[in-house]
Amino acid sequence: MIIAIGSDHAGFLLKTHLKEFLLNLQYDVRDFGTYDSTSTDYPDYALLVAKEIADGKANLGLLVCGTGVGMSIAANKVKGVRAAAVSEPSSARLSRQHNNANIVCMGARVVGPELAEDILRAFLNNDFSNGERHNRRIAKISAMEGE
Ligand code: RB5
Repeated sequence: MIIAIGSDHAGFLLKTHLKEFLLNLQYDVRDFGTYDSTSTDYPDYALLVAKEIADGKANLGLLVCGTGVGMSIAANKVKGVRAAAVSEPSSARLSRQHNNANIVCMGARVVGPELAEDILRAFLNNDFSNGERHNRRIAKISAMEGE
């Protein structure tokens, strides 16, 4: 499974930690930066990762900024992307099962490395529930993309 990852300066250290975590689990990780702690703009990295997902070049994505909020707002501008900003594992699991989220966003100023690992594990180890009501709701979200 290919995981596209990205962060801004605030998320750089946590992204680096989670990259190692993913590599140890044998995931195919594509890192779209940033590559150091120099101040930068989170939408640039949200766009790179979101496009990988939208283009089908990666299966799932991980974005890290200070809160996870800016990354999710930016990534969700790309058609086909459902980015979830979460700070605990239950929401990460449900974002896959109910919302078919394809990018998980976290805040390095909100969660520590161990909690971030638990969140990422919950996100990766769960699939979309594919029930009628969930499909209907996802279809309504997709229909909003032209608005
Ligand atoms: C950067 O200072 C910070 O604003 C950014 O990482 C993120 O938290 C925005 O949502």
